Amino acid sequence: MAEEFTLSVWRGDASGGHEVEYRVPKETGMVVLDALHYIQHNLAPDLAVRWNCKAAHCGSCGAEVNGVPKLLCKTRMDDYAGQTVSVRPMKTFPVIKDLVTDVSWNYQVAQEIPPLAPTVPAPFNMQQIDADRVQEFHRCIECFLCQDTCHVLRDHHGRDKYFGPRFMVKIAEFEMHPMDGADRVPLLAHEAGVNMCNVTKCCTEVCPQHIRITDNAIIPLKERVADRYYDPVRMLLRRLSGRKKAADAPSSTSVAT
Ligand code: SF4
Ligand code: SF4
Ligand code: FES
Repeated sequence: MAEEFTLSVWRGDASGGHEVEYRVPKETGMVVLDALHYIQHNLAPDLAVRWNCKAAHCGSCGAEVNGVPKLLCKTRMDDYAGQTVSVRPMKTFPVIKDLVTDVSWNYQVAQEIPPLAPTVPAPFNMQQIDADRVQEFHRCIECFLCQDTCHVLRDHHGRDKYFGPRFMVKIAEFEMHPMDGADRVPLLAHEAGVNMCNVTKCCTEVCPQHIRITDNAIIPLKERVADRYYDPVRMLLRRLSGRKKAADAPSSTSVAT
């Protein structure tokens, strides 16, 4: 008899759902998305799953495989040999149907971030070190797996307090660009809520593009906020000038894991 994988796939919609078990013939090099396609073609044609490139580029196939945020097209079935593989929608976002979630909140957040504001016309003459520093952030494919795993958004429903790791990467991409002239530090300190992050690095662990989200984006952004709002000399100058009252300083709140 042909060898099989067993998958337990969440089926349902916004009103609720449950996992349904399916058995899929084993194929060499099979990824979870292949197994779901087999289920769609042979066992459950109404199974909803979002995908596009099947090459880990478009970022659309994010879900949770055995409880861990993953790209379905990049996650091999043989990594789970001998196990029933649970496939569920990303928990942080509202379910539309089965494995498809509504990630539109992220696009609203993106609109709140001022774009690059070059101080000189392109093309830019940049040091290689500066080009390298922002290049890492350009690798983001907006899969939102980091948003899914971030406990501020996932467990503490902090969408009104924190933009999440994907958008810390986006802000870092602009803020660390040597030709950028915009000031996003007040946004970071207030609406974007960088202080909500307590640097657990869970987002970095799940990023399929291996962006060092916490070390290279979030920590430098936190330092900019600290320099602006908590540097004693700056605080004194602000008080003397009366331009910025202590009450305007951002909260240093972070949430427990
Ligand atoms: S390091 Fe910060 S952004 Fe990343 S998962 Fe932890 S709290 Fe969220
Ligand atoms: S930073 Fe990484 S995990 Fe987050 S959206 Fe971009 S590619 Fe996905
Ligand atoms: S289908 Fe495009 S990233 Fe998986």
